[in-house]
Amino acid sequence: MPNEQRFLVRPALPTRCEGKEIIVFPPTDTLVLAFIMLGAWVLPTSVDMDRYQVALSKALSVFPPVAGRLCKYSDTDNSKGDMYIRLINGGVPVSVVDDHETEQFPIGPILVSDEEFEPWIDPIPVHNVINEDEPLLRVRFTNLRKTGQTIYTICWHHGLGDGFIGNLFTTYIAYFYRGADISKLPPPVHDKIFLPSPPSDPELAEKFLPLMKHLRDAKPPEEFIPAALQSIERTSPVHITFSPAHIQTLMKRALAGLPEHTEASMAKLSRPDVLVAYMILQHNTILSEIDPDRQPIDTVVSVIDYRGNPGLAPVAMFGNAALHHTSPSFELPMLPPRAGPRNRELHFERCLATIAMSIRAGTLQTRDREFLSTYLAFHNELCRIAYQRGLCQNLLPASDREITFNSSHLIDWRRGGDFLQPGSPLAGTRYVRFHTNSIFERYVRIFQSNNAYIPGQNGMLGQWDTSLDGGLEAAFRVDTEIAEKLVSRIKEDAKHEFARVYSKL
Ligand SMILES: *[C@@H]1O[C@H](CO)[C@@H](O)[C@H](O)[C@H]1NC(C)=O
Repeated sequence: MPNEQRFLVRPALPTRCEGKEIIVFPPTDTLVLAFIMLGAWVLPTSVDMDRYQVALSKALSVFPPVAGRLCKYSDTDNSKGDMYIRLINGGVPVSVVDDHETEQFPIGPILVSDEEFEPWIDPIPVHNVINEDEPLLRVRFTNLRKTGQTIYTICWHHGLGDGFIGNLFTTYIAYFYRGADISKLPPPVHDKIFLPSPPSDPELAEKFLPLMKHLRDAKPPEEFIPAALQSIERTSPVHITFSPAHIQTLMKRALAGLPEHTEASMAKLSRPDVLVAYMILQHNTILSEIDPDRQPIDTVVSVIDYRGNPGLAPVAMFGNAALHHTSPSFELPMLPPRAGPRNRELHFERCLATIAMSIRAGTLQTRDREFLSTYLAFHNELCRIAYQRGLCQNLLPASDREITFNSSHLIDWRRGGDFLQPGSPLAGTRYVRFHTNSIFERYVRIFQSNNAYIPGQNGMLGQWDTSLDGGLEAAFRVDTEIAEKLVSRIKEDAKHEFARVYSKL
């Protein structure tokens, strides 16, 4: 048994919620009660435990719900009791383990399954949290004595908040630890927002509900769980790394493929728009070779963070603020018969632009305030119904034609592991690697790349390969026979400046 130390860390008093006893959940926060967000930071050196405990205590004081407990009011005859967090300024468990065996931390990709995290975390018993005295955050440090690295992990109950808030919280800890200026970070807002009922106009329901099929078609667990297990059996994970140079090339090609006179807002393609478009093209090409009868992907569902909308979600609202929005389906142009190499290249660029623009069009829709508030009213109502009836949101693809993506490309996860003073040689986020969980079928998640660490031999310090700095890593599950081809094909294509895909079109 490895030697293990345990601490309980409470918020420094008074907290930012002084005088408040409970925070009642709006329906959107109940949607993720079954999810635990796992995070692991591989740090180049050790962390001072006394300083860490003080830093965590200060961060809990800014985020008191993290030191709270998840509770539920009793049911009444016709409705299930609301969920709430009781602010008890309780203890957050922090454990420290010494590991004298591990020669190399085994997790490679950013996004991995829960099983791969198991040896490194102090787990939250997710099915036994409500109305129990269970902390909603658990922290573990594992000191790898053989490599000098530290594995810092958190288990974070998703009911507390989404990636944005989890990232902000861990960043506060790192700032307090370093003594950095927290006034540079947005202060969390602990008031929840309760949305009105959706309009009763049936035409509006007909327009909006198909945009949120994951909730419209929410399933009882008896149906969802077997479907999810079956999906895992049928699919394999893929991890695709795009270097800054790859991204630049693909962006250039997509922009070259935009039709003349494209509106400025539509021409502002984001990096995920283009990368997702490229992966769909490759996916569809492979599918047409191995299973020509199956429908190709022609519709993208985007997970959009709607923070920063006054009245709907302030930027640092403590909680969950993501919506799934179905973009308009796209139709790819036809390749002219007997097209030569130059025409194939133009065709590839046009296809890339067509898909990326359909994604952009969906995102732009949600930027319209009127559209967004109506969307959220329906969304909120479906979350309420799902909670009342005990249904799970359906995160599996609604049909062969759909793919979902949830991009964290704007979230710098690694800054939560930045514990070294500026000026020390390994300071900053370049020498921190980050990993997290939740990888689903045709549910693309995109993260900022980790740099590669090449461990040293015989106790010598290793070396860093920072060529991926500024790159992105995409991960999802897809049918096993497609998965193998997809990864090798994209690798090959990238080596040839993405020219292989169109020479084969
Ligand atoms: C989507 O990404 C956000 C931010 O990283 C995260 O909080 C959320 O859990 C993700 N959703 C899923 C289903 O992976």
